[in-house]
Amino acid sequence: MKRDTTVLLDEKRIFKPNVETVERAHVKNWETEIEKGKNFEKYWEEKAEDLDWFERWDQVLDESNKPFFKWFVNGKINLAYNAVDRWINTEKRNQVAILYVNERGDEKKLTYYELYREVNKMANGLKNLGVKKGDTVSMYLPMCPELLISMLACNKIGAVHSVVYSGLSVGAFVERMNDAKVKILITADGTYRRGKIIDLKKISDEAMLQCPTIETVIVVKHTGSKIDISDLSGREIFYERLIEGEPAECECEPMDSEDPLFILYTSGSTGKPKGVLHTTGGYMVGVSTTLKNIFDIHENDMWWCTGDIGWITGHSYVIYGPLLLGTTTVVYEGAPDYPDPGAWWNIVEKYGVTKFYTAPTAIRHLMRFGNKYPNLYNLSSLKILGTVGEPINPEAWMWYYKNVGKEKAPIMDTWWQTETGMHLISPLPSAYLKPGSATKAVPGVDADVVDEDGNPVPLGKGGYLVIKKPWPAMFRTLYEDEERYKDVYWNQIPGYYKAGDMARKDEDGYFWIQGRSDDVLKIAGHRVGTSEVESAFVSHPAVVEAAVIGKHDPIKGQVIKAFVILREGYKLKTKLIEELNKHVRYELGPVAVIGDIEQVESLPKTRSGKIMRRVLRARELGEDVGDTSTLEE
Ligand code: WT7
Repeated sequence: MKRDTTVLLDEKRIFKPNVETVERAHVKNWETEIEKGKNFEKYWEEKAEDLDWFERWDQVLDESNKPFFKWFVNGKINLAYNAVDRWINTEKRNQVAILYVNERGDEKKLTYYELYREVNKMANGLKNLGVKKGDTVSMYLPMCPELLISMLACNKIGAVHSVVYSGLSVGAFVERMNDAKVKILITADGTYRRGKIIDLKKISDEAMLQCPTIETVIVVKHTGSKIDISDLSGREIFYERLIEGEPAECECEPMDSEDPLFILYTSGSTGKPKGVLHTTGGYMVGVSTTLKNIFDIHENDMWWCTGDIGWITGHSYVIYGPLLLGTTTVVYEGAPDYPDPGAWWNIVEKYGVTKFYTAPTAIRHLMRFGNKYPNLYNLSSLKILGTVGEPINPEAWMWYYKNVGKEKAPIMDTWWQTETGMHLISPLPSAYLKPGSATKAVPGVDADVVDEDGNPVPLGKGGYLVIKKPWPAMFRTLYEDEERYKDVYWNQIPGYYKAGDMARKDEDGYFWIQGRSDDVLKIAGHRVGTSEVESAFVSHPAVVEAAVIGKHDPIKGQVIKAFVILREGYKLKTKLIEELNKHVRYELGPVAVIGDIEQVESLPKTRSGKIMRRVLRARELGEDVGDTSTLEE
């Protein structure tokens, strides 16, 4: 069968930077900026100058107690001051800071000045509840203005926030509350999802029965439900009541660079979730710099990152990055395909979104509905696109590039993690792009692919992805688990941060992320990334989505077991099995030995869209599934 060459896995085309995009860009030459970044302490020190510090640091980086690094030592700063207060006396005062939209078409705009007042009222409200510097406040909220306001209010008074994704279930919620010994919880009556209202309060009520440390629950009336004061228990208070009559002024707590900023839980390879701890100064520097340079943010941008604030993408790039840069950030509550698969493109057109950042899984999902929906809308405002969360298969990259970006908006494939806090591997708008590659380490960051002992592997060969030098937004530890912090990340490959991903570098030094190291198969001694195999399956016209795990084979060690979702009208019969076998082998070479293909209706995925192969593996082998708290039902 003759196929469109753009869907081939071995997409060899290189996409040149768009001239207009580069002319506009803060950074006009990617390579030169990378060179500059090699003097990394000086580079990051220069970037730190863009923020407003109460007291200057006296050392950029302290490496005396590895791996407990310190950045901008003894500097004093406040995040809320830099994200909100400092804009109030500039012409940005009346610019929209937060544009909240939901699937019902409701919208709410908060200017920087309005945001300033709301944050201060909430900060005062929290103080009245006895919240002090260093206390932990947790949020279990939908994507709504009060979530951003509460996070900034915490920053203002030096409280540490721990946001729990509102899609997590009771068990995961309880585990996170208790691990962080949270005293104050902020929740809401509900959230909109595909035409329904999900009752968050009910989930939180159930969870509260098992959370002894919680003293106060603040309830946001978000969905306008009939919930009334008589429905509240003794320890509960409405958000609107808490801030009622509070002054719209509040002093910022001067925070040390290394004071904790937030905890965010993420699943590890073992059952217990990891409380990733981020601190203040370096995080602010890393996040604002990467957003500014990678998405070339200017103050008049309409920035939209579709990630949920319950995950690191939302922390760094829905709220903090954009506000630190003084631009407008879109906060969207809803699904990508509701009321129809044009929902997102409608928002892009309506508000003139200029920079759009989403996940490959969302792109693949929307791709299923064809070109019709993006073509219904005027998407010409889009200047730069981005992806995050997993490797993007070239087929999805091409679809996104052509149908959403109209071949004018470059795609920033950003590799990073909850732990890294900021983008670490990503192109800038002036880079030459290869679909499926996150290109190179961002300026000021040193990444490599090495073997178990930390020796660089030859170009083209797979190995462990490591970061060789500290970076400012790095996490500082796992909450109350320094041993695990050292063991999992720093003691595996001497001297380097082990990311837990497999990768290879090509002849141009471009990184190709292959997937988590626990998901890389070894077939007859060859390394085969599950995501590469999946990408190969998906590039076949019959396959919509695929997940691959390793299956024991007495001769080859492992072979591929694939689970595939087929396009309407296809059935997994002998002929198609044969064709898929051939197709994958054609794409990846004879190393990709397929043991078994099974047709399925759906795949187990995390809320952020990553396929949970661990769950498939456990089901297949009849083993215990472990922590499935991040599994989307
Ligand atoms: C893992 C981190 C960082 C925000 C979202 C996920 C994978 C992330 C990419 C990318 C290939 C990627 C890695 C990484 N990943 N971005 N552009 N290309 N893989 O954060 O939940 O902490 O997951 O996501 O495997 O280790 P996270």
